[in-house]
Amino acid sequence: MAKLKVGILISGRGSNMAALIKAATAPDYPAEIACVISNVADAPGLGIARQAGIAAMVISHKDHPDRESFDRALSSALESHGVELVVLAGFMRILSRWFPERWAGRLLNIHPSLLPAFRGRHVERQALSAGVRVSGCTVHLVVPDLDAGPIVAQAAVPVLPNDTEETLSARILRQEHRLYPMVVRWFAEGRIVETSRGVEVKDVPAGATLLFSAEP
Ligand code: GAR
Repeated sequence: MAKLKVGILISGRGSNMAALIKAATAPDYPAEIACVISNVADAPGLGIARQAGIAAMVISHKDHPDRESFDRALSSALESHGVELVVLAGFMRILSRWFPERWAGRLLNIHPSLLPAFRGRHVERQALSAGVRVSGCTVHLVVPDLDAGPIVAQAAVPVLPNDTEETLSARILRQEHRLYPMVVRWFAEGRIVETSRGVEVKDVPAGATLLFSAEP
C-alpha cells in the first residue's frame, strides 16, 4: 500500500523530526517523510534530515512581508512534494489563520505540556513555577488558536522536586519521541477521527492514547 507522505516543519534541533525519520525507516511503517522545511537557515535538524537522504529546505519568514505570504510559500513547497500530512516538530513560528485552515484535519503539533495547561513559550518553566507534580506532552490537531485544537494523545511524566527546566524538558522529550511516531502511524492508518467531543482514535487498545513514564 502507498505510504502517507509527511512534511515536517522545524526551527531548530529536530529531535522529534529525527524520531519520525527513524520510525519511518521500518518497512511496515505506513508513512514516509517527503520533505523537511525549516524557517531558520542554520537549524541543526536540517543536517540530520539531509544525512538521512530527505529533501530539506529553508523557507525563511524574513523573506516574506507578512505571516500569510510566508505560510503560502510553505504550503506551496509542501504541495510540490505531494505532502498529505504536515507535522510541526519544534516549529517556533506562529502561523496565520490561513495555514491551519488550508491544512485543516491534516496538521499536527507536539507541545511539551499536558494541554490545556501551559501554552506558549517557556513551557517547562511555567510547569515548575506552578508546582505541578505531573507534566508531559501533547499531540494535537492544529487550529488557528495557539496550542489549542483537539488532543490526539498525551504522555505523562513526574515532575521531581529537584527538577530544572533542562531535566524536566529532557524527561518530556523522551516521551515526545515515543508519542509522535505513534500518532503519525495512527493518522496514516486512518484511525484519527474528529467527533463532536474532539478526536477519537479508532481500533486501538483502551488507554493507548495516554502514555505514562515514571522514570526520573
Ligand atoms: C519540543 O520539546 C517540542 O515539544 C517543542 O519544542 C521542542 C522541539 O524540540 N515545541 C513547542 O514548544 C511548540 N509550542 P526538537 O526540535 O528537538 O524536536
